[in-house]
Amino acid sequence: MSGVGKIARVRCGANIALAKYWGKANGALNLPAVPSISLTLAELYTETTVEFDSRLEQDELLLDSAPVQGRARERMIQMLDRARDEARVSDRCRITTRNNFPTASGLASSASGFAALAGAVAYAAGLDHSLNTTSSWARRASASAARSVFAGFAELPTSTTDDDNLCARPIEPGRTWAEVRLIVAMVGKAPKSIGSTEAMERSRLNSPYYRAWLETAPRLCDEVREGLAARDLAQVGDAMERSTLAMHACALTASPSVRYWQPETLELIDAVQALRAESVGAWFTTDAGPHVKVLCLAADAHRVQDRLKASVPSADILVCSPGPGLTVLP
Ligand code: PMV
Repeated sequence: MSGVGKIARVRCGANIALAKYWGKANGALNLPAVPSISLTLAELYTETTVEFDSRLEQDELLLDSAPVQGRARERMIQMLDRARDEARVSDRCRITTRNNFPTASGLASSASGFAALAGAVAYAAGLDHSLNTTSSWARRASASAARSVFAGFAELPTSTTDDDNLCARPIEPGRTWAEVRLIVAMVGKAPKSIGSTEAMERSRLNSPYYRAWLETAPRLCDEVREGLAARDLAQVGDAMERSTLAMHACALTASPSVRYWQPETLELIDAVQALRAESVGAWFTTDAGPHVKVLCLAADAHRVQDRLKASVPSADILVCSPGPGLTVLP
């Protein structure tokens, strides 16, 4: 990324993993234990403004108008300090960030949020970062964020060498599969019961299925990648469902158990399976929250949307399409 300035405003889309990342190979560097593939969405995004200001005595961090606290604040300050070191500036920062969807509820707000922050901080500090460097900075804060930097489908590989430059890569850049839709069925707006970092750690340390997950996940990722290359939505969807089920099986069998699903989650999954029994191409995935995301083609989106709404009338349903990566705003 090029450009020098003390203030920057960027937008970045959330991404939903088709092949899930779950588990860390190196916690300090935040390196994933398995490869993952996601779709960056146009309709769910974060907008972040970063301004270096010599009059500030400390960094001011606002998320959806409230001061950022706890672990999220630490991760943001770590990224700011890294930028200050590299740019040799000491000014404190004012950061205003806003999500156009519920934060920390399993809708990938940390992915769009940290990808936007990595881009905006570097741009405001006058650092000439490539998208790969931006992706690697984002990955350090939240591994899924590495993928949001790129448009459309992106893959985050694993690293066997503790490589702190590990970044995501776009899949077939410039050849978007524009007809694909991910329909997001939102079940409530509450923050998730347990953060993904702690849940992954619990899974790694004491789920009897963690080893099976490590063996299975790379194969499922291959199937998703091959399905995308062949434009075979059934192959992508089938591997996507097996990936989410294996991830949740691993989390459910941790001790104490990690369960993100709610009764509505299962109602929505039933609705997707019923659609498939009627030969509609629709496949589900769920993340660290109760929401269900359904993969289908644009031609089937209305039918899928109607069925999801009929099965859980309280759910908010949003049809999402492939989105751009990190975008600098005027
Ligand atoms: O990057 P994190 O720590 O927010 O973890 C993301 C975990 C999942 O959303 C469940 C899966 C994924 O690959 O995005």
